Amino acid sequence: MSLPATGDPDSSGDPGSPGDAADPGVAAALIRARAGGRAPRLGIVLGSGLGGLADLLDNAVAIPYAEIPGFPTSTVAGHAGRFLVGELEGVTVACMQGRFHLYEGHSPAAIKLPIRTFAALRVEALLLTNAAGSLRTEAGPGSLMLITDHLNFMWTNPLIGPNDDTWGERFVSLEDAYDPALRSRLLVLAAGLGIRLHEGVYGALLGPLFETPAEIRAYRVLGADAVGMSTVPEVIVARHAGLRVVAISAITNLAVGMSDVPVDHEQTLRGAAIAAADLTRLVRAFAGSFAAEQTEGA
Ligand code: HPA
Repeated sequence: MSLPATGDPDSSGDPGSPGDAADPGVAAALIRARAGGRAPRLGIVLGSGLGGLADLLDNAVAIPYAEIPGFPTSTVAGHAGRFLVGELEGVTVACMQGRFHLYEGHSPAAIKLPIRTFAALRVEALLLTNAAGSLRTEAGPGSLMLITDHLNFMWTNPLIGPNDDTWGERFVSLEDAYDPALRSRLLVLAAGLGIRLHEGVYGALLGPLFETPAEIRAYRVLGADAVGMSTVPEVIVARHAGLRVVAISAITNLAVGMSDVPVDHEQTLRGAAIAAADLTRLVRAFAGSFAAEQTEGA
């Protein structure tokens, strides 16, 4: 993968975006300089209510999105809006504490800059986390689901428009988009920690609406195991850039119509807080596995 030196004009025009300097190379250089030259091996995106994981980073530097040229700003409660570099289990990681959702008014293209910044930082893999509603009763609030595949009910994606060949090819395969080897690694790690890691298909919706019960029934027929309002645009940009991707949903609620508990943002944050404990242990172990890889390779 070669890294383009010039800007990415179609990331402009988004809420909170300066709009003129959306260059992943510039963003990565700034982040790396602020991190004292450390080279992160793993990128992590923390989803709604899951930002607390960032507090566990050792020797962390935190850069508000507003200070990174071209970065949009995150407007959602539960999303801090900072890019961090620090150590987790002895491995340098780069972390987005807060992500950009289409329902905030960001164009799909706005997702390119932050994800390509991970690529420009040359991370070896990208771990995406999110809060999601479960369509499977056995995967209840507080549980974790490893995403095996997705359904893009957003009906749009960040790669629409002219292709930037410096990042990737025009036509992108999403077969095995969720890296099979990294998924296996997570399953083994979860089993070792005594964490039940469900596996399922993530259905991505535009939001900010929660679904109707009829929609949930339809999505189940179509093959969704969980639904949420993020992640898929990021996966698409990451795969275009050749990044290895793995993603975990923190199940915050049973989807609309499946229980008597009303589905709202507060409920999702409460569910995320329960799931965060196991997720934190699993993410730690996953980061640690990169250190082990290095040791074995040495
Ligand atoms: N639907 C959509 N997005 C979500 C949900 C849900 O039930 N829970 C958390 N994010």
